[in-house]
Amino acid sequence: MAITTREGDHSYVTQPAKILAMKDLTEDTRYFKFKFLDESIVEENYKPGQFAIMSLPGVGEAVFSISSPPTRTDFIEFGVRKVGSFTEALFKLKVGDLVHLRGPYGDGFNMESLRGRDLIIISGGLGAIPLRSVLLYVEDRREEFNQVFFLNGARSPADMLYREDIIAMAQRGIIESHLSVDKDDTGEWPYHEGVVTTLFPKITDRVVSEKTTAIICGPPIMYKYVIQELLKLKIPKDQILMTLERRMKCGQGHCGHCAIGGRYTCLEGPVFTFYDVQHIKELI
Ligand SMILES: Cc1cc2nc3c(=O)[nH]c(=O)nc-3n(C[C@H](O)[C@H](O)[C@H](O)COP(=O)(O)OP(=O)(O)OC[C@H]3O[C@@H](n4cnc5c(N)ncnc54)[C@H](O)[C@@H]3O)c2cc1C
Ligand code: FES
Repeated sequence: MAITTREGDHSYVTQPAKILAMKDLTEDTRYFKFKFLDESIVEENYKPGQFAIMSLPGVGEAVFSISSPPTRTDFIEFGVRKVGSFTEALFKLKVGDLVHLRGPYGDGFNMESLRGRDLIIISGGLGAIPLRSVLLYVEDRREEFNQVFFLNGARSPADMLYREDIIAMAQRGIIESHLSVDKDDTGEWPYHEGVVTTLFPKITDRVVSEKTTAIICGPPIMYKYVIQELLKLKIPKDQILMTLERRMKCGQGHCGHCAIGGRYTCLEGPVFTFYDVQHIKELI
């Protein structure tokens, strides 16, 4: 974008950004919309799947995926789950308060290389946060893509992120969406029940393996089973793209926190192809 300073400037310089809006998505996860105070910062020079580092003076900093697409400028959005000290402090802020952002970091989805392809986008739990950037990019550039399937899984109806938005996108013909919860504890869930892989039969008859790229983000346990389904559909390993999040600190290859199997996930990832990481046991 560069959120922080100039593109390629790998520094720890942060930029203040004001909270424009926020909204609870679930009991513990909140949507945040920010605007940089420096109006010369262009919020479009990043790829879906990249992340930013947010800091609060006196509290610390934390890593979050950019949830808005680069096709929508003038603001930047995140989805944050409250899990500990940083996120608790963030949740106490009000509209108009400031955070500090640096980035964008990591490698994301190269959407331009997916032009003309069918997409199967598979999300589990918080995975919908970075994949929202992909979905909204597809919405804004719909003519560039062919069939787009979205399979979204959550633990329960109350845990499903962006449910209304996804249904609205499907109604507008942007995506074909299939929603599933592991367990319906309400008795009122109108969609599918079962883990996300049980949604595959709804699309398999229309998947053309040589034209399809799969995009996955979800909890670690999900990858193994989703990849098995994709390989059954004969999707090539280099067309299975996934975002793998590991503990990160600096975000720019300095601290070593994110290194796994000899790879720095903050630099080479978080988006990898299955082909690239299939032999790194710790990654999947
Ligand atoms: C590339 C990347 C993208 C991320 N994107 C998002 C996002 O879009 N939305 C979001 O809510 N979170 C995201 N996270 C996780 C987020 O960075 C952590 O939840 C955050 O740092 C927690 O800070 P805290 O001080 O509130 O919690 P802490 O006090 O640091 O930790 C509280 C609990 O959260 C767990 N935790 C801490 N850090 C992580 C982590 N990196 N991954 C998984 N569990 C963690 C700890 O084990 C502990 O149980 C992302 C992480 C990475 C590496
Ligand atoms: S997060 Fe510091 S090297 Fe990757």
